[in-house]
Amino acid sequence: MPPATAETPPGRILIVDDEPVVGDVLTALLASEGHHVEVAADAASGRFLLEDGGPWDALLLDVMLPDADGLDVLRWVRERVPDLAVFMITAFGSVEDAVAAMKFGAFHYLTKPFKNDEVRLLVAKAVQTTRLRVENKDLKRALEQRFRFEKIVGKSHAMQELYRFIEQVAPSRSTVLIQGESGTGKELVAHAIHRRSARADKPFVVVSSHSIPTDLLEDNLFGHTRGAFTGAAGAKPGLLEVADGGTALFDEISTVSPEVQVKLLRVIQEKEFLPLGAIESRVVDVRILAATNEDLKTLVDQGRFREDLYYRLNVINLTVPPLRKRAEDIPLLVEHFLGRFNEENAKDVARVTPEVLERLLGYPWPGNVRELENVVERGVVLARGREIGVDLLPKDMLATVSLPEVASLPEGMGFYDAVARYERQLIESALRRAGGVQKVAAEALGLKPTTLNEKIKRLGISV
Ligand SMILES: Nc1ncnc2c1ncn2[C@@H]1O[C@H](COP(=O)(O)OP(=O)(O)OP(=O)(O)O)[C@@H](O)[C@H]1O
Ligand SMILES: [Mg+2]
Repeated sequence: MPPATAETPPGRILIVDDEPVVGDVLTALLASEGHHVEVAADAASGRFLLEDGGPWDALLLDVMLPDADGLDVLRWVRERVPDLAVFMITAFGSVEDAVAAMKFGAFHYLTKPFKNDEVRLLVAKAVQTTRLRVENKDLKRALEQRFRFEKIVGKSHAMQELYRFIEQVAPSRSTVLIQGESGTGKELVAHAIHRRSARADKPFVVVSSHSIPTDLLEDNLFGHTRGAFTGAAGAKPGLLEVADGGTALFDEISTVSPEVQVKLLRVIQEKEFLPLGAIESRVVDVRILAATNEDLKTLVDQGRFREDLYYRLNVINLTVPPLRKRAEDIPLLVEHFLGRFNEENAKDVARVTPEVLERLLGYPWPGNVRELENVVERGVVLARGREIGVDLLPKDMLATVSLPEVASLPEGMGFYDAVARYERQLIESALRRAGGVQKVAAEALGLKPTTLNEKIKRLGISV
């Protein structure tokens, strides 16, 4: 009995054929190669073994079965186990069957009577191919797993560190303050914390306080009893009650009014609050997360945010890095958003051109990932072919300062005035591209933020 050679790994082979002779011959032949072989005598038991006896490396399937057409079984297999190599067993000379089988994606076909060497070789090759495919898939999945965390995409060192930190803090009940510029993914991070906690199957609610009047925010948060105010026809539970057992994210916490800040402090300390019009306070078990794109500590120092609340929120502090500090995530994010917007728009845009990628990598992204997301969406929607070219990038992204060839001073202007004018143009353009964020513009210009700020004041540039 010759053993399986080094280049033919033993596989698991399923034969579906109702003729006992065929099953016996093939079993003997393939088992002598070291393969594990099982035989099913009809389509029903074949299907059963395919679903519950796998994984299989190859399937040898008779075209004519007592209880089904082999081609129907083939179609079924293609849907369930698309990676499985399938050989159709046909009688010698039935070319039509063979052609039909190939059309349905059969790996190959074997004609009776079998040529032993051919069967050996083809099956060995199929086993190898299947193994490779599975390995590649595993590898890809492993890579994908490393480069995403819940719904967050990013492979940069900074993001990997963030994933590890989230994993570490998620299981506790501690309050987490999530800081980061606008559009960096703070809400995604908050959601990931919730998903990785024991509260994952309880509600996650987002309380946005930005540009919401205090009355309305309080009503949203704490709810009211019936008749609490004119027009309160029925009782309404607040978001905190809705989130009981789960997690609440206070978005843009810096915009919460002093009145709400006090009440929030009480929620965190006493775990209770009073709905409008209620006599007894409600007790809830809610984990509080807060997000901000302003530096809360500075607001505290300026007396615009309660210090005690700040310390209550800032038990664990987490900062999401801006996109310009992790440009290596950009290609991955582009791919991620291409996939999403292709699907949403039923399009098939495969890539951005190398020139576009270069622009994306060099752009300072004042709006961070949200801005990139919008750029890709726009590109996908407008693309005619399978590529996004420079023409599909927003115009203000392309606005670059072109250095004019200065041979002599403009009429009636002195040297220092001309330099100042040029400085002004550079700064205004950088500010425009940075969406008015001085920190971002300074970085793009290679200046310290304080230096840029001085220049802005000196030149009287309006931001
Ligand atoms: N790392 C990321 N991977 C995938 N999508 C991301 C990532 N970061 C942000 N996004 C997407 O960008 C958009 C903005 O993210 P999100 O709302 O979490 O930002 P934010 O920091 O809360 O912004 P803001 O401060 O303006 O509220 C969302 O559509 C989000 O899905
Ligand atoms: Mg947000």
